[in-house]
Parts: sequence; structure tokens; C-alpha cells
Amino acid sequence: MLLHQSTWPEVETYLGRCQGIVVPIGSTEQHGPTGLVGTDALCPEIIAHEAAAEAGFLVAPTFNVGMAQHHLAFPGSITLRPSTMIAALNDWITSLAGHGFKQIYFFNGHGGNITTLNAAFAEYYAGWSMRGEPCPVVLKQRNWWELGSVMDTCRKLFPAGEGSHATASEISVTLHGYPQSVKSAAMSPRIAPDGTFTDAADFRRNFPDGRCGSDPAQASVEAGKTIVDVAKAALITEVRPFFDLPAKAEAAE
Ligand code: NI
Repeated sequence: MLLHQSTWPEVETYLGRCQGIVVPIGSTEQHGPTGLVGTDALCPEIIAHEAAAEAGFLVAPTFNVGMAQHHLAFPGSITLRPSTMIAALNDWITSLAGHGFKQIYFFNGHGGNITTLNAAFAEYYAGWSMRGEPCPVVLKQRNWWELGSVMDTCRKLFPAGEGSHATASEISVTLHGYPQSVKSAAMSPRIAPDGTFTDAADFRRNFPDGRCGSDPAQASVEAGKTIVDVAKAALITEVRPFFDLPAKAEAAE
């Protein structure tokens, strides 16, 4: 069940049986010569939508612009400042909590978001703590690649050149969701350099085609289905007890 494709009475009915919601969260940033700019938002969205169709939980619109200042030297990348993101996340959380959502599960697709997401949680909890009131909401974040055996699956599929940005795994997941988006480009060296960076100019200097340590030419629609199937099952296994959802009943909703 998708929030933005539901009516308010449907959301009200859902809240009567479950107070949990999954919020896919990602980034809009370049992903090398063959990866979609939306990759980090699309990966958790694709997995969450498939899991929700099977398990019956509610998925919010994707928070699809995050921490991407280091990608701004590539066309198409959009970023928030950390302070903007903390404020926006607090507005999303406050809105959802006001309707009675009690478990908000941020399903993350971008490593660069982790610190700011934790800061946003701290900001939200601090408001309650400083008023001396108990917070009615539990906030959780999980990176899709850390679920269950997802990482092992990716390592088996791509034993060399997985890297850390524009990886074959994440691009495969987007190809599973959007098979019409298979791209090809000459990339040299085959496995991109890895290393550190500071700002956007430094990133582009160190990683001229946008990849970090990766060989995304290995990506495929088939690998994407394998990864999404493993991630979907692991997401359902984690979310069901967190949301106190029954194992099988109401899965058709
Ligand atoms: Ni990515």
C-alpha cells in the first residue's frame, strides 16, 4: 500500500490496524556514465514497493534528495544542506506522528545520508526530552545493502570491482525496476579508482567519470532481480515484528 496512491479514509483504516510506515530515503546524484541519477532513491523505493505489495504495510513517498554536495560537479545532481535535511525530516516525522504513526522506518539507499538521518532523529527526540514528555514514536534507519544476506549475495554476484559508488549491485537493482534503462558506455580503467574526497571539485578531480572503485558494466537485470528478491524478503522479516504486523493475514491489502 502506497501512501501517495491512497485516499485519506484508506490511510485512516490502515492506522486502525497498523501504526508503522516505511519511508524510502535516498539521493539524487550522478552514478557514473551508466547509472541513473536517481539510483540511491530508486533502490530502496523498488525494494520497499515490492515488499509492501507482499506484506501489506504502508510506504510513504520517497525522500529522494539527500546529502550529495560532493556530486554537484556532475550535471543533474541535487543536494540539500545537512541543516535543511534535518529540518525537512523533522517536518515529515512530525506530520506522520500527528496522524498516529508510531513506528517510522527509514529505508535508506545512500551512505552519505546516515549521519544526517541520525542527527535528524536526535533533533526529534531532543524536542520531547527537553519538554519532559515521552516521545510516542520510534524511529529506525536501515541501509538496504545491510539487510539479511544482501551483502553476501552482492559479493557472490560481483566478486571483483563492486566498489563503493555506482556499484554493479545498485545499478542492477535499478535495472530490475526499470529494464528499459540499460545503458552502455566506454569506461576506463575498467575498475575505477577508490579514495577519499572533500567537496564537489575534489570529487570530480579524484573520480573523473563519477565512479568510485566500481565496475558497473557488470550490472544486469537478472542480478537486480536476485538482489531485490533477497532484500525484499529480509525487509519483510525485519519490518513485520517492528510494526507488530501479523505474519500472513491481510497480505492482500
Ligand atoms: Ni549509490
